[in-house]
Order: sequence, then structure tokens, then C-alpha cells
Amino acid sequence: MNFSNWAASIQQRTEIALGSALPSSQVSPTRLHEAMRYAVLGGGKRVRPLLCHAAGDLFKADQNSLDTAAIATELIHAYSLVHDDLPCMDNDVLRRGKPTCHIEFDEATALLAGDALQTLAFQVLSCRSLDVDLARQIEMLNLLATASGSRGMAGGQALDIAATNQQLTIAALELMHIHKTGALIRAAVLLGAHCGNATPAELDQLSHFATRLGLLFQVVDDILDTESSTATLGKTAGKDAAQNKSTYISLLGKDQAKEFAVNLLHESHSALTPFGDRALRLHELADFIAKRNF
Ligand code: IPE
Ligand code: IPE
Ligand code: MG
Ligand code: MG
Ligand code: MG
Repeated sequence: MNFSNWAASIQQRTEIALGSALPSSQVSPTRLHEAMRYAVLGGGKRVRPLLCHAAGDLFKADQNSLDTAAIATELIHAYSLVHDDLPCMDNDVLRRGKPTCHIEFDEATALLAGDALQTLAFQVLSCRSLDVDLARQIEMLNLLATASGSRGMAGGQALDIAATNQQLTIAALELMHIHKTGALIRAAVLLGAHCGNATPAELDQLSHFATRLGLLFQVVDDILDTESSTATLGKTAGKDAAQNKSTYISLLGKDQAKEFAVNLLHESHSALTPFGDRALRLHELADFIAKRNF
């Protein structure tokens, strides 16, 4: 199967799994459930589910377990986007080509939808239908919690807010990117590998890959903010500069940011060397992340 057919099939099964994990919008509180479904379904590249499946496929992991791990990371991601767009954060009105959750609903509903999506992720990942032993499942829950919290995504978002209107060092900028975006990308890869009972050495090697890839993901997001259009991105272009955000572009300029992205892609590929041809999908995903235009 070529990459785009494989990706389409994972995106499709992810959509189905998300649709059944999310509470029905007929169930009370209907407006909250509607907002949760609005924020999650029918949009997004589903990069984290794709990474989770690709990493799991390395170890021939059970596909239903991979769906569970994949949607848990996607639920956290969707929650992070809802909160990232709030007026107190990036104050964005467009996400995935639609009005942001707080514009379509209201701020209180968006806040609560984010909260509820976050806890739903852990509800999903703690279900006993996951085909791994209990000790490993607890390790997976711990991994996702750490990646989401103050030592992961939420912490990175705090650094992002603190860095607005500031001049960061390269090291501080890297730390912020690795946390706000990299942590969840790494969790997606490692959760997939856990589903296939990967060894500690294999997890270490994949962690190195995913850390470089996560940084690459945010560097490319920063580049696209300056180069792509609102229509292509499905979110407002040019807003990092407008809001005086700290990015690789603001610190290094576009040429050096692009050079850095090329190096990160190279490092990502190199980190997969021990897995040989088995890592084809992860190589393809790294290329997709580097070359995407949205
Ligand atoms: C956007 O993530 C936010 C960042 C972490 C940079 P994605 O580019 O994965 O957004 P969707 O899920 O495709 O909408
Ligand atoms: C957001 O980074 C990272 C998250 C944890 C959501 P950005 O603020 O750059 O993401 P976009 O550009 O709004 O998608
Ligand atoms: Mg932000
Ligand atoms: Mg934002
Ligand atoms: Mg951005």
C-alpha cells in the first residue's frame, strides 16, 4: 500500500474510533457534547494517530489497541487546540477551516470542552480492552499524563505565553517547542510502540527519533505561519508575527529556520536506522511533516 492510501485508511479508522468514544450530542449536557464533537471530528491531519499506528506497526501491534492509543493522543491534542485558541491564549477565530470552538459556542463551553476532552483521553486509555499487560498500561497512562501536563504540553504553552514580546535564547526556544508540541508527538510514537510491547532499548531509540521529529513539527508550523495562506492552513496565517511570538523565524530568520528544519529531518531519519526497512512508514511520516503545506 502506498503512503497516501495507508494514511487515508488510518485517518478513516481514527475518525470512526473518535466518533464512538465521544459522547453523543443527544446526551446531556448536549451543548458541551456538541462542542467536544465539533472540536474533534471532521478535521485535522491526524498526525499523532498516524505516528502511533506507524510506530505500533514496527512491532506488529494489535490494531484495536493502536486505535485506542491513537485517539487518546488525538483527544489531548484537540483539547490543546481548543485552549490554545482561547482569547486568553492565542485568541484565534479559525481552526481546521471552521470558527474556533469558543467562537462557534462560547468561551465557557470551549474551556469545559477542553477539560472534558482531556479527561476522556485518560478514560479511553485506561480501558481494559487494550491488549497489553496492566503494568505496561499504567506506564502508558503515566507517559500520556506527563506529556500533557506541566512537564509537557501545558508547560510548553506556559513558556510560549511567557516568551511573547521577549527575545529568547536558542536553547530556551528549543525547550519551549520540545514541550508545547514535541511532548505529545513523542507520546504518540511511544504509545504506539508500547502497544507492540517494545523493549526499553527500542523505546529509547524511538524517543530520540520522536523528539527530533516533534521539534521539526513545530519549526515547520512556524515557517508555514509566515509562508502559507489562511485558506490552505485552515487557521489564520501570519499571526505569530502579529502577536510577537517567539519562533525560529523571529529568532533566526526564515533561511536559517529552514536550514534547521532540514537538519532535524535528517536527524529524524538517522534515528530510525536501527529499525531498517521496518520503519518505512515512520520515514514517510517524517517526510510528510517536513514537506507539508498545511
Ligand atoms: C497544530 O497541530 C498545533 C501544533 C502543535 C503546531 P497540527 O498541525 O497537527 O493540527 P491539526 O490537528 O492538523 O489541525
Ligand atoms: C500550539 O502552537 C501548540 C499547542 C500545544 C496547541 P501554536 O499556537 O503555534 O499552534 P497553532 O499555530 O495555533 O496551530
Ligand atoms: Mg499557541
Ligand atoms: Mg496558536
Ligand atoms: Mg503555530
